Amino acid sequence: MLTGKRILLIIGGGIAAYKSLDLIRRLRDQGADVVPVLTKAAEQFVTPLSVSALAAQKVYRDLFDLTDEAEMGHIELSRAADLVVVAPATADLMAKMAGGHANDLASTLLMATDKCVLIAPAMNVRMWEHPATRRNLAVLRGDDVLVVGPDEGHMACGEFGPGRMSEVPDIVAAIGAALGEGPLKGRHVIVTSGPTHEPIDPVRYIANRSSGAQGAALAVALRDLGAQVSFVTGPAAVAPPDGVAVAQVETAREMDQAVRAALPADAAVFAAAVADWRVENAADQKMKKGAGGMPVLEFAENPDILAGVAQMSKGRPALVVGFAAETEDVVAFAQAKLARKGCDWIVANDVSPGTGIMGGAENAVHLITADGVEEWPRMAKGAVAARLAARIAEALGAG
Ligand code: C5P
Repeated sequence: MLTGKRILLIIGGGIAAYKSLDLIRRLRDQGADVVPVLTKAAEQFVTPLSVSALAAQKVYRDLFDLTDEAEMGHIELSRAADLVVVAPATADLMAKMAGGHANDLASTLLMATDKCVLIAPAMNVRMWEHPATRRNLAVLRGDDVLVVGPDEGHMACGEFGPGRMSEVPDIVAAIGAALGEGPLKGRHVIVTSGPTHEPIDPVRYIANRSSGAQGAALAVALRDLGAQVSFVTGPAAVAPPDGVAVAQVETAREMDQAVRAALPADAAVFAAAVADWRVENAADQKMKKGAGGMPVLEFAENPDILAGVAQMSKGRPALVVGFAAETEDVVAFAQAKLARKGCDWIVANDVSPGTGIMGGAENAVHLITADGVEEWPRMAKGAVAARLAARIAEALGAG
């Protein structure tokens, strides 16, 4: 519940602005007060009257409104809130924020506020992927702006890809996390999860049995402690949780790129079962049986995402956690892995078929750190996740 929380909601000018009407309702259902601000462009998509009716509040629209300035003033307006939310955050608004512009009410409020800011980006996929937007996003993350989404999917412009504004329940969850008093509030944690698929040809691929259950449970546990979670997942059986920023990828190389795009972070947890190798001579067309005999697959090594991040010379997350799924000598192999990869902790588990752990509901892990080895009892993956999330909070000094 968000009872008594005051949210300054800046609605940007994009087609996703229609979702902001629902967002106002859901936030009020949870007991929050929503003070709406419309940009000029937003007024092309939603009317001040409907926003005002749903918020049961005056809508703020103009920087130079003398009545508002006499009543409250834009400085006060920006500070009386517990949280500032920008939804939809258009490419233009993000650029203004990153550049420190203050030439209308929305951008001035964003410059004047002393409160945490959460943005829900929404734009065409090309705009989202444009180097300028990537740069602006990195600047905003560096300025401690929280980000929810965007999602991947069909867009109003007819294209497909990342850029759709997060669904309202996800934005509400991110608002809850940002306002929550959880120990990881204001911290950014990256979690990788699921298997990767490495194509052999357009219809076949190499994969593994990871369900993504442990990674998803971890993302939930970190989110519930108030962290802002970037969840980078391969094609997993388990759906990504609500209230986290999801990047869905297929191959190890895509996962590597998505992790790097999500940096900087306070901690990174690598729960994905990444394929060690990809097929270097993957075919562009479906391979056929024929007189040529058996196809010969040539392999190339995939980037080791965990080792790459753990060994970054600049901007390394304060805590880097790897997983080690082994079928024999679990602890010895995991200790060697900790040293080889340069990470801080390894969560090691025995995934021999007899254990039922891979794809199952439970996990039995050892936590390996520089200080030694802890053996945790067998428990539900959610319980392992909650315990690990609490340890992460402690290690970040956020406990
Ligand atoms: O070397 P191995 O695959 O056993 O290491 C497992 C750990 O390394 C896991 O945390 C996994 O997510 C991570 N990893 C990775 N990129 C790879 C291979 C493994 O991030 N290419």
